[in-house]
Amino acid sequence: MTLKLRASMSAQQTYNVAVIGAGAIGLNHIESFQKHPDASVVALAEVSPERGREAADKFNVPELVTDYKQLLARDDIHVVSIALPNYLHAPVALEALQAGKNVMIDKPMATNATDAAKLVEEAKKQGVLLMVGQNNRMTPQVQTAKQMIERGDLGDLYHAKTAMTRPSGIPRIGSWFTQTKFAGGGSIYDIGVHALDRCLYLMGEFEASSVSGQTYSQFGPRGIGDGNWGKGEIDPNKPFDVDDLAIALIKLKSGRTVLLEASWAAYMEHGADFTQVFGTDGGLIVPSMKFTHADESGQGQVTEEAPLLPTLVNPNRMAHFIDALQGTAEPFIKPEESLALQRILDAIYESARTGAEIRL
Ligand SMILES: NC(=O)c1ccc[n+]([C@@H]2O[C@H](COP(=O)([O-])OP(=O)(O)OC[C@H]3O[C@@H](n4cnc5c(N)ncnc54)[C@H](O)[C@@H]3O)[C@@H](O)[C@H]2O)c1
Repeated sequence: MTLKLRASMSAQQTYNVAVIGAGAIGLNHIESFQKHPDASVVALAEVSPERGREAADKFNVPELVTDYKQLLARDDIHVVSIALPNYLHAPVALEALQAGKNVMIDKPMATNATDAAKLVEEAKKQGVLLMVGQNNRMTPQVQTAKQMIERGDLGDLYHAKTAMTRPSGIPRIGSWFTQTKFAGGGSIYDIGVHALDRCLYLMGEFEASSVSGQTYSQFGPRGIGDGNWGKGEIDPNKPFDVDDLAIALIKLKSGRTVLLEASWAAYMEHGADFTQVFGTDGGLIVPSMKFTHADESGQGQVTEEAPLLPTLVNPNRMAHFIDALQGTAEPFIKPEESLALQRILDAIYESARTGAEIRL
């Protein structure tokens, strides 16, 4: 993809970045951009004056505002990085794109595919870069697996299992994460999205033909399974109305299948965080890198640990975003992929709600 950068930007050596949201991951956004020699985080928007001040002081960000619109009006800001509660991703990203900014959004892209599609369209119209920060596919393990798959070590992939599960890790009961109107969904939107993105990236296919899903909410409503992620305010009186465990069977357009499992809380000794791909000549699990293939006789199997290969892309997603703007890297996470992923996430909820398989 060749990015048509705005004429005013093409000569830029340094990209001025505004981060919106200084909660748990907003700090990571600032720090990650600051690691790129040609990025400068010049402004921060945060509705909590205390969290905003603490972050601005810690990272020496010169301008702090409570209203992000002030930053969108600044002509000298080239990149807007969104670290907000899920329900604000699409509206704020759309405004930023309309203002001609390049936009990095943390996952999930939006809380529904209709809104996500508007972002893809607007980014194209403006000729700016739009990327969803799916950092899980940028790890050295996933990058090695991708290269092994592409050079044919596993033969043809036909099935995968992918999971991100925790025994006790709800991102604080009573926070925005546990309310549908702010989060859009629970464990699926929060961590299932990571497990699914890295799996579909490895399979090289994002379009699904059908989805069958089920969601559960067994821990949160009882006030158990709490974790400690996030910095936003807690209201213990707000009902927990999202999933804390969800599963799905996804059939891809090619006919290949994916089993997805996500949970914030469930009775189990350990959580899991893996993607396992099955091919005609081998199977591989990330991040353990256990590679299983036929033995010399062709009748049995052997398992070995695959050595890590150099990554295809900078694992720092914010630094990669700047590389992509500079044209030194091809944009690694395509907005169309994130949109297709969003359609699957929506279909999981739709299937759980209706009890039917959803055809896409
Ligand atoms: N990629 C990852 O690995 C990863 C990890 C954690 C969170 N996330 C995503 O990042 C996003 C933020 O999550 P978090 O954990 O930082 O949440 P958080 O609750 O810790 O932080 C959100 C921040 O946004 C601020 N905010 C709310 N409305 C605002 C507005 N209108 N203007 C400015 N600031 C506003 C809040 O005051 C809060 O400080 C979520 O969408 C989450 O899914 C991604």
